[in-house]
Amino acid sequence: MRMYDIIKKKRDGGELTTEEIKYFIGGVTDGSIPDYQISALCMAIYFRGMTQRETCDLTFAVRDSGEKVDFSAIRGIRVDKHSTGGVGDKTSLVVAPIVASYGIKVAKMSGRGLGHTGGTVDKLEAISGFRTTLSDAEFIEQVNKIGLAIVGQSKQFAPADKKLYALRDVTATVDSMPLIAASIMGKKLAADDDCIVLDVKTGSGSFMKTVEKSTELARIMVDIGKRAGKKMVALITNMDMPLGYAIGNSLEVIEAVETLRGRGPADFTEVCITLSAHMLSLAGKGTYEECEKLARTAIENGSALNKLVETVKAQGGDSALIENTDNFARAKYSFAVKSPMSGYILDADTEAYGLASLALGAGRNRADDVIDYSAGIILRKKTGDFVREGEDIAVLYSNNESSLATAQKQLLSATVIGSEKPQAEPLVYGVIK
Ligand code: URA
Repeated sequence: MRMYDIIKKKRDGGELTTEEIKYFIGGVTDGSIPDYQISALCMAIYFRGMTQRETCDLTFAVRDSGEKVDFSAIRGIRVDKHSTGGVGDKTSLVVAPIVASYGIKVAKMSGRGLGHTGGTVDKLEAISGFRTTLSDAEFIEQVNKIGLAIVGQSKQFAPADKKLYALRDVTATVDSMPLIAASIMGKKLAADDDCIVLDVKTGSGSFMKTVEKSTELARIMVDIGKRAGKKMVALITNMDMPLGYAIGNSLEVIEAVETLRGRGPADFTEVCITLSAHMLSLAGKGTYEECEKLARTAIENGSALNKLVETVKAQGGDSALIENTDNFARAKYSFAVKSPMSGYILDADTEAYGLASLALGAGRNRADDVIDYSAGIILRKKTGDFVREGEDIAVLYSNNESSLATAQKQLLSATVIGSEKPQAEPLVYGVIK
């Protein structure tokens, strides 16, 4: 088999065989296929697409490219949630403790921030001492003991995706439906959970900008999961504005804790309740409606917050930060972004908001950049809100004073203000089963 022929076949619109896809992923994993040929095939896939059979083969090959995680020693049903990535998306910090508080096992392997989007591992590392690397034995023991552990993915985990993603990132081939589906589901299936709830974001802050595209991606991923024997649900959720008001690592942890105390923003709380209810229902805790009540109860009676504190303690984190979030270090500089005019916020380019947060130091431009955990944005106004001239739209936080002006410019040019109140958009556009 020759890589040249595989690229040519896909370039001309052909359907790759299972063997050709396995050969490709095998070569990506062992380094025998050079980057330029991998990139060329990604570009051919970007333009020509893949059939569902090819996408499944690609996913299973990515899943099988590294170490299989053996979670058979975890007792009970394991359920996971995965978001396709957004801005201000701290849902894992809320839904994982809610679900685990009912005895369902959440053995979570999360990612770091990617481009304009944040990642759960970075947020957890904002809690001083929190270990996002555990040995397999520690991970399994913690899940068995308290029901929840959250770590980053190890290097050996679906390594083909790591390589592919790095090349897609620099060759403008990230936003290809089959490549995204194989990347996400390849990693999810390698973790071998029993039930998976996908949170497929849609809108200006997500990789998929339209509801149609997000729904198509959700259908593809649900189908792949079911073919692999998993219980699957996907929600299509709104990422046309940041979720909640906080963007940036420790700011988001604080907002997640407030939500677990029952004082979270309405939009963020509702998305968390909906995701938790689907997770609990898939795991056999009752109908969706019953599980929605359970999710609200776990917030009201404090059991979900206790579960988060227990998890932070178990992973070496400073739980005093969770018990009193005033203890989080604050950024040295803050700056209020004022509205240049009166009117309604008609639109906010959420990707640009994410990039503004990145400019403040909350994310990485390069893989080895060091994160400023206290950096980020607290929004004061969101789409649909009325703002007066000179009133705060947002407050920026950073330890790098010179970044404030850049972020202010990005934020203002990403915010459209007009005279007519825009129609409210749904938080959840649909559920794919
Ligand atoms: N998240 C992933 O893990 N992979 C993608 O391709 C896009 C988002």
